[in-house]
Amino acid sequence: MVKATLSPAVPKPDHVPDALVYDFDYYFDPALLENAHDRILQIAAEAPPIFWSPRQGGSWFMRSHDATYKASRDTDTFSNGPFPFEMIAHMNAGKPDNQKALIPLPITIDPPHHATYRGPLQKPFGPKAMLALKDNIRALAIELIEGVKADGKCEFMTAIAEPLPVTVFLQLFGLPLERQRVYRDLVAEHMHSPLAHDPQEIQRRLRRVAEVMRETILERQAEPRDDILSMLWQSEFDGRPANLHDIENYAVMLFLAGLDTVMNGMGLGVRHLAMHPELQEQLRADVSLIPEAAEELLRRYTFTVPPRFVARDSEFEGVTMKKGERAMIFLPAADLDPSEFKSPEDYNLARENKVHIAFGTGPHRCLGSHLARIELQVLYEEMVTRLPTFRLDPDKPLTFHGGNVIGPNQVHLVWDV
Ligand code: HEM
Repeated sequence: MVKATLSPAVPKPDHVPDALVYDFDYYFDPALLENAHDRILQIAAEAPPIFWSPRQGGSWFMRSHDATYKASRDTDTFSNGPFPFEMIAHMNAGKPDNQKALIPLPITIDPPHHATYRGPLQKPFGPKAMLALKDNIRALAIELIEGVKADGKCEFMTAIAEPLPVTVFLQLFGLPLERQRVYRDLVAEHMHSPLAHDPQEIQRRLRRVAEVMRETILERQAEPRDDILSMLWQSEFDGRPANLHDIENYAVMLFLAGLDTVMNGMGLGVRHLAMHPELQEQLRADVSLIPEAAEELLRRYTFTVPPRFVARDSEFEGVTMKKGERAMIFLPAADLDPSEFKSPEDYNLARENKVHIAFGTGPHRCLGSHLARIELQVLYEEMVTRLPTFRLDPDKPLTFHGGNVIGPNQVHLVWDV
């Protein structure tokens, strides 16, 4: 078993029935850290469709497909931010831009304001714009894979899964590539620490991310280029021009979303391929199967857990919830829900229902899904066609991290040279 310190269990509130309590620390559950999706399969099979866990300060988990789907779309009951938009606007009023509370945009804003802030990003992250990056992504993937090929081994996360999406994102955003390490360390710190529930600590971390980018953000205002930062400076919000605070709000969100997610998705997907040489063989023989193979990997190993705040006292699917409580949209379990997917544990390219929820649903559905899909597909194709059959190094067992983005810490691969 992996050594992990569970967070203390908080007392159960009176309105939570005993039958809905399920003990699960989504950061430090020992079985999750040992083998994340085995534990999630167990939860999907045995926990109530909506359960309450006393860990990490206590929160609701939507674990069934039905509950995650409905909660993601019920933005009146489940808010994406701890405070309403108007309250944040009030808190920030009159403060200089660099002292305003950061609000990652558009993810922490609920409808109707959400659409105003998502709007400017739709086209730059749309399928056409992302397809135009494909050759560049492939060239980067080839360079990284060829760089380790002769070694007969690599630690996949550091050698490939981290630099590939990070480089793509920094280029797209117009951020300096030579500072990649600084950016990556900040993401890791932000994502993998349970302290991220404390609003003040969240602000301190977001501010550090914004500060690292400040110089480039201001440069793009003065001298626009062909990148997303420059495009955002040219946007308008409810008729007013963009200001530094807006750009920083976008920058922190896109930075966090673009650097950590794809990397963990790649780690989970490549681990599965390494455990299944017959799948590598199948894909090598027919690369046209790769888009579907990548989708089934996303379903089988769904890995993000978006948080919500209960916005009002409510009865949701027969469960009493109180304003201010936290609710996790436990997408990994939704995609392993036996009432939605037959034999969910099977990786099955021929399954009838292929519609997974790995990118979420509702107004906040992932904006980067086109980019993520291209990156994953290109990576899998170049891995299976350029490397001989690769497998996990039996001497270096894998461990996982929990949190809002679940994934492997290291994936040691070996192949014959
Ligand atoms: C495999 C990789 C990825 C996965 C699994 C993923 C998953 C998700 C999920 C589940 C959500 C919904 C969150 C919620 O309901 O609160 C989301 C939102 C979002 N994602 Fe991704 N994501 C990935 C990659 C990316 C990338 C590469 C970017 C951008 C560079 C990105 C940008 C965003 C943004 C901006 C939102 C918020 C959208 C909104 O609030 O309207 N994502 N993502």
